[in-house]
Amino acid sequence: MAPTFTNDYRHFAVTKGHGTKGLSDLQLDSLPEQYIQPVEERLDMTKVLKEESIPVIDMSNLDDPNVADQIVAAAEKWGFFQIVNHGVPVEVLENVQEATRRFFALPVEEKIMFTQEKSPTNSVRLTTSFLPKVDKVLEWKDYLSILVSDEKSFEFWPSACKNEVMEYVEKSKLVMKRLLKALMQGLNVDMESKESLIMGSTRNNLNYYPVCPNPELAIGVGRHSDVSSLTFLLQDNVGGLFIRKMETDTWISVPPITGAIVINIGDALQILSNGKYKSAEHCVAANGSNNRISVPIFANPRPDEIIGPLSEVLKNGEKPIYKHVLYSDYVKHFYRKSHDGKNTLDFAKI
Ligand code: OGA
Ligand code: NI
Repeated sequence: MAPTFTNDYRHFAVTKGHGTKGLSDLQLDSLPEQYIQPVEERLDMTKVLKEESIPVIDMSNLDDPNVADQIVAAAEKWGFFQIVNHGVPVEVLENVQEATRRFFALPVEEKIMFTQEKSPTNSVRLTTSFLPKVDKVLEWKDYLSILVSDEKSFEFWPSACKNEVMEYVEKSKLVMKRLLKALMQGLNVDMESKESLIMGSTRNNLNYYPVCPNPELAIGVGRHSDVSSLTFLLQDNVGGLFIRKMETDTWISVPPITGAIVINIGDALQILSNGKYKSAEHCVAANGSNNRISVPIFANPRPDEIIGPLSEVLKNGEKPIYKHVLYSDYVKHFYRKSHDGKNTLDFAKI
């Protein structure tokens, strides 16, 4: 049943499991008030720098040391870059995008089986907004999150996307490993011995941003940095991802490039590198005319790992700016509060 009172929208989207996709399908004339962001949390298009862009790195020649240098430089300066000729086959990317659309097109009775209350496993969860129980103003986004590294949950993954996600993650992890190897080399750290610390756990999200009434009043994803070591993100051709230019209040668009993958540094790598590599704050604008999907893979430390500045980084007498924290505590802190820019890092600051 469609809501009849304005107060019913949260109930309809969150409790009843229709999500923002369900609201979008109602073709409302205006944005429900539960989604109207305060002015400071909207994306101010006058603050977007049209002439600047993040680097696009060609990964076809891996033996070229120049490629590793470009990766390191981009991680230091921007915390964000795109990669092309990365080696993940185009069909694998197309298949996971199709699977994402197929999952979100399922009738609500099928999708609701994956909400927190009903999902047969904690490792597969469908959510609307970011933290609907915590967010004062809801975000205009639905997402399915799968803890891929929990292999025993595989039997419970939705059949609409199961095989496609598996293949996408498998192929992409090879690229993530190569990127992390280059980044670790930049710190004089041997990647092999640190694999579980840096990428011992993998999560894949399927993000769905349906057409939004009054998109300028809403936000797709609020300002945040990822808690990952590294994020690998496939976006479609709609656009809407923006990153904050470091130390400024200006934003830069991450334009869709067919076949490219967006890479960003997460908080875990900022901490491990003692701030040499920077996680960048980013957000996603809502769109008034197109549905948008994106498919991020988060390479994370294992939850039982202690993260802190690596000894190799501090060898030359550099002072640590972060303490050692249990990674699962760091993640818990992230999920205790709504999106708030890069404030999660305060948890680990000395
Ligand atoms: C995220 C995110 C960006 C996008 O899921 O953490 O920032 O383009 N997504 O969907
Ligand atoms: Ni993000």
